[in-house]
Amino acid sequence: MRTAALLALVALLGLTTAVRGEDPYIFFDWNVTYGTIAPLGVPQRVILINGQFPGPNINSTTNNNVVVNLFNNLDEPFLLSWNGIQHRKNSWQDGMPGTNCPIPPGGNFTYHFQVKDQIGSFYYFPSIGMHKAAGGFGGLRVNSRLLIPVPFDPPADDFTVLIGDWYAKDHTVLRGFLDKGRTLGRPGGVLINGKKDDPKPLFTMEAGKTYRYRVCNVGTKTSLNFRIQGHLMTLVEMDGSHTVQNVYDSLDVHLGQCYSVLVTANQEPRGYYMVASTRFIKKVMTTTAVIGYAGSAEAPSPVLPEGPLGWAWSINQWRSFRWNLTASAARPNPQGSYHYGSINITRTIKLSNSAGSVDGKFRCAINGASFQHPPTPLKLAEYFGAGALVFQYDTIGDMPPAKLGSIRTEPIVLKATFRDFVEIILENPEKSIQSYHLDGYSFFPVGMGAGKWTPEKRKRYNLVDAVSRHTIQVYPRSWTAIMLTFDNAGMWNLRSEMWERHYLGQQLYFSVLSPARSLRDEYDAPANALVCGAVQNLPRPPPYV
Ligand SMILES: *[C@@H]1O[C@H](CO)[C@@H](O)[C@H](O)[C@H]1NC(C)=O
Ligand SMILES: *[C@@H]1O[C@H](CO)[C@@H](O)[C@H](O)[C@H]1NC(C)=O
Ligand SMILES: *[C@@H]1O[C@H](CO)[C@@H](O)[C@H](O)[C@H]1NC(C)=O
Ligand SMILES: *[C@@H]1O[C@H](CO)[C@@H](O)[C@H](O)[C@H]1NC(C)=O
Ligand SMILES: *[C@@H]1O[C@H](CO)[C@@H](O)[C@H](O)[C@H]1NC(C)=O
Repeated sequence: MRTAALLALVALLGLTTAVRGEDPYIFFDWNVTYGTIAPLGVPQRVILINGQFPGPNINSTTNNNVVVNLFNNLDEPFLLSWNGIQHRKNSWQDGMPGTNCPIPPGGNFTYHFQVKDQIGSFYYFPSIGMHKAAGGFGGLRVNSRLLIPVPFDPPADDFTVLIGDWYAKDHTVLRGFLDKGRTLGRPGGVLINGKKDDPKPLFTMEAGKTYRYRVCNVGTKTSLNFRIQGHLMTLVEMDGSHTVQNVYDSLDVHLGQCYSVLVTANQEPRGYYMVASTRFIKKVMTTTAVIGYAGSAEAPSPVLPEGPLGWAWSINQWRSFRWNLTASAARPNPQGSYHYGSINITRTIKLSNSAGSVDGKFRCAINGASFQHPPTPLKLAEYFGAGALVFQYDTIGDMPPAKLGSIRTEPIVLKATFRDFVEIILENPEKSIQSYHLDGYSFFPVGMGAGKWTPEKRKRYNLVDAVSRHTIQVYPRSWTAIMLTFDNAGMWNLRSEMWERHYLGQQLYFSVLSPARSLRDEYDAPANALVCGAVQNLPRPPPYV
């Protein structure tokens, strides 16, 4: 088999590269196809990777070079993106439609990225159209290197739990609704690792042992609460940072977020339900999966643990999260990360979301503009010096307009000064919860509160041990403040993780350019980069030096 041959090659390469001191490589050959399954009881078309739904897990170690040759056997252009992987100096591998040309049907593209200085739990997902609502996602774990201490004992096993809401409709139907100006309404149900209420044990624990569960919300619409019948969860990591190890009986996992918890099998041997249920929408939808205990075939008790109500509970839970400052771990930006509270803010950007109508169709916006993809990816246009043909920088201001009334559509690219330390206020005047993700970075969520943000709120920021992460919720009619250093050159997507809103324009890109055009700060476009749109026939610019 092709994969087996590749694995042998990997083993060989691993050896030779180790000798040369280069970081090890892991290779994957992935075939993206359609398949038919019935997650909610109705057969529907889904996206498979090597025949799997969800796709295969990537099991990597800090600094590994990950090489994924992706063959698109769908009838539509396709891209994968890697949620939370920072691609230092290398937005060429980010796989968003604003950074990469789509892989055409029947075509292939080889991603090559390094999980540089990262640890923790992540996932990949298809980034074009509404593909994400059809599958094509999978877990991506980054283990700590052997000699780097981890702030807990090695677990007996390590389980990936992908939870997410699900529509029993084809992704082209969902896209059609949005293109016609309709909204999607509520999902049909919730899945755990691609299944609803599966009675067969998904994982098995041995009494007395402790296991790591990596829980990511890969859904498209709703926050979920996650809990395990009869068991407490010790939080150890979120979005790639080791946390102070608090104990929870349930966790709110917002769209795009990942949490690692330790669970000890300290109950009567029998089955136990893992439960994921929707939050912040009127009708609560629930799904279960079963955790077995070795040696017992007894089914779980039918009495499910109840989820929390309201969002005060949720914001209090967020306030209890703390970074473990003494845990040693790979950190992409050690200087910036230890003392973020003492760096002077050079720029404050306030982004306010809204929804409304453009030409009679529902659209979503940030600071009055609704993102629209130009035919040429923004990063390529900028790189080939064709930016002006494709987009203008800074069409929205650093502050929302006084009234978020009318909405215009355009590509939105904010220019960030390389290495600036900025404060971004995410303001949500709407009555639904929001979840925002930033590619290429992790940031410090330093404050949250109800109503409008004012500079006074800075007095109550957590400037000491906020957990550095890549995705953060903004509660209804509330704000969230984040801080970060724009030290990773590239073109990076800031987006709503509610995929309908993302598709309808609640996203933008940050262009972070080093003035040097130097390999020290950013990698050159890879030799295999696909070209499309306005840059297709342009000569390649001189290489970075
Ligand atoms: C991918 O899957 C399709 C459909 O099963 C098959 O025709 C094709 O040969 C596969 N491609 C690769 C590269 O394995
Ligand atoms: C993942 O990688 C780690 C570290 O190399 C290894 O110990 C573990 O067995 C791997 N797990 C799987 C499921 O491949
Ligand atoms: C497509 O796959 C082939 C090997 O099967 C590889 O040589 C080629 O570089 C890949 N194309 C891209 C654009 O990565
Ligand atoms: C933080 O990490 C350190 C070092 O690994 C560990 O000893 C300590 O228990 C952790 N602290 C908390 C509060 O989780
Ligand atoms: C931050 O700003 C304060 C007041 O403007 C100034 O005194 C201080 O030197 C600055 N700190 C740094 C690290 O630039």
